[in-house]
Amino acid sequence: MIRMRRKKMWASCFCFAAVFFLMVTLQVITELGNSENKVAVISSLQSGLLEPVERQAFQFKKQEIHSSLKTESDVNHYPILLWWSPLTGETGRLGQCGEDVCFFTVNKTYQHNQMTRAFLFYGTDFGIDSLPLPREDYHDWALFHEESPKNNYKLFHESTITLFNHTATFSRHSHLPLTTQYLESVEILKSLRYMIPLQTKNSLRKRLAPLAYVQSDCNPPSDRDSYVRELMCHIEVDSYGECLHNRDLPQHLRNPTAMDNGNFYKILAQYKFILAFENAICEDYITEKLWRPLKLGVVPVYFGSPSVVEWLPSNKSAILVSSFSHPRELAHYIKRLDTNDREYESYLQWKLKGDISNPRLLTAMKERKWGVKDITQDNYIDAFECMVCNRVWENIRRKEKGWLPRRWSAQVNHLSCPQPETFWFSSSNSGWTSLQEMWIPSFKQSKREAWALRHLVERNRNFTAQEFWTLVFKE
Ligand SMILES: *[C@@H]1O[C@H](CO)[C@@H](O)[C@H](O)[C@H]1NC(C)=O
Ligand SMILES: *[C@@H]1O[C@H](CO)[C@@H](O)[C@H](O)[C@H]1NC(C)=O
Ligand SMILES: *[C@@H]1O[C@H](CO)[C@@H](O)[C@H](O)[C@H]1NC(C)=O
Ligand SMILES: *[C@@H]1O[C@H](CO)[C@@H](O)[C@H](O)[C@H]1NC(C)=O
Repeated sequence: MIRMRRKKMWASCFCFAAVFFLMVTLQVITELGNSENKVAVISSLQSGLLEPVERQAFQFKKQEIHSSLKTESDVNHYPILLWWSPLTGETGRLGQCGEDVCFFTVNKTYQHNQMTRAFLFYGTDFGIDSLPLPREDYHDWALFHEESPKNNYKLFHESTITLFNHTATFSRHSHLPLTTQYLESVEILKSLRYMIPLQTKNSLRKRLAPLAYVQSDCNPPSDRDSYVRELMCHIEVDSYGECLHNRDLPQHLRNPTAMDNGNFYKILAQYKFILAFENAICEDYITEKLWRPLKLGVVPVYFGSPSVVEWLPSNKSAILVSSFSHPRELAHYIKRLDTNDREYESYLQWKLKGDISNPRLLTAMKERKWGVKDITQDNYIDAFECMVCNRVWENIRRKEKGWLPRRWSAQVNHLSCPQPETFWFSSSNSGWTSLQEMWIPSFKQSKREAWALRHLVERNRNFTAQEFWTLVFKE
C-alpha cells in the first residue's frame, strides 16, 4: 500500500517535472527567438566590415541556430574561430555568445579564410607541427589548458605563454580562470552527506590508520611519494592506490573510474585525515585531491599550490605540509590531533556550521560562467569559446567605429610553474631518481623548446620539425 502510494507520488512528481520542463523549453525557444532578432540587427550593422552581404542573408531562421550551418554563404557572415585541435570535434557550428555569433570549427581548411579571426589551441595537443603560420595581425591566438605542467611542459614558460592573446588556465591571473574547475558547487562542499561523526571515526581507528593516501600516478614532478614514504616511517598511512600500496580496495573499486563512486567516498570518509598531494607544484593548481576530503568531512593534509590558503573554505580547514620542516614534525602534529577531539574538530568547524568564510572562494564560485558536471550550465570550454568570440566581436565593432583595436596578451603568470625540486631529506629512492633522471631534465629541455618555438614563430613563416630541433639543440 505504502509502496503504491509512493509510486503514485513519484508519478505525479514526474508529471510535474515534465510540465515544468516543457515550460522551460518554451521559454528558451522564445528567448532564442528574441536573441536571434538581436543577432540579425547587430550583424547587419556590421555588414560594412564583415563581407558585404545583403541584409536578407543575415536573417537566419529559428531552426538554424540548432543545426550547424554549413553552407559557405552562411559561414561567411560571422567571424570564424578555428580550433587548432580536434578537442571539440565540431566540424562547424554557429555559436551564440550573448549577442554575438561566431562560427566554431575544427576544420583546418579555414586557416586562410579571410573571416578567420582566432585560433583556439588546446594545451595538451599544442605542438610544433604545422602551426597556423603566417599569423596575420587579426589572428588572435587563444589557449585553453586546464592541466598540470606534467602534461605539456613547454607551455609553462614565458616565451610560449606570451604568444597567446587569450587564456583559460588554472591560474587566477588567466583571462578565464579555471582554479575551481574541480569543485562542483559551494553546496556540495558544505554538504554533510558523507560525513562520519567523530565518535565513529575514533572507533574505526582500531582497524584503520589515521591517514589515507590514494594515488596511482607514482613519482610525478612534485615528488610526493618521497614525502609520503618518509611520513610512513613516523605514522601509519593506509595507501590504497598503486603508489606505496599497502591496503586493498574492494575489487569493484579498483579502477580509476571508481574514484567518483559513492562507495569509494564512503571508505575515504571513515578517515580522520587524507593526504591531498598534487602531482605538480604551481600557484593555483588545485585539484579534486583537495576538494574531495573537504566534501567528505575529512581533514586534508595538503601539498601543492603555495597559494592554497587563499582558496580554502576557512582559515582552519586543512593542514599544510609546507608549515612543517620535516615529515616527522607533521606526523607528530597529526598524532596530537588524533588524540585530541576538540583540536581535531576545530578543523571541521566550518563544515559543521556550514560556514564558508573565504570571500575569494565564494566570489569565484558565484561569478564563474561555467559549471562542473552540471548540464544546466555551460561547461568551461563553451565559456572559453564565448570569451574569445565576444572579444573578437569587440574589436570588430571598434574597427567599424574607426577606433583602435583593444589588445590582449597573456602574461607569464597565466601559466607558469617553477622547476620541480626533490625533498632535501630524500635521496636515491625512486622518487628522487625520477626527478633527477626525468622531470628536472625534461623541465630544462622544455625551456629550450619554448625558446626555439618562440624564435621560429616570430619569424612568422612555416618551419619544419628539423629546423625546430636544430635550434633546440644548438643552444
Ligand atoms: C572542411 O571544410 C571544407 C570547406 O571549407 C569542406 O569542403 C570539407 O568537407 C570540410 N571537412 C570536414 C571534415 O568537414
Ligand atoms: C584568516 O586569517 C587571517 C590572518 O590570520 C585574518 O586576517 C582573516 O580575517 C581570517 N579570516 C577569517 C575568515 O577568519
Ligand atoms: C595578439 O597577439 C599578437 C602577438 O603578441 C599581437 O600582435 C596582436 O596585436 C594581439 N591581438 C590582440 C587583439 O590583442
Ligand atoms: C605550411 O605548411 C603546411 C604543411 O606543410 C602547408 O599545408 C601550408 O600550406 C603551409 N603554409 C604556408 C603559408 O606555406
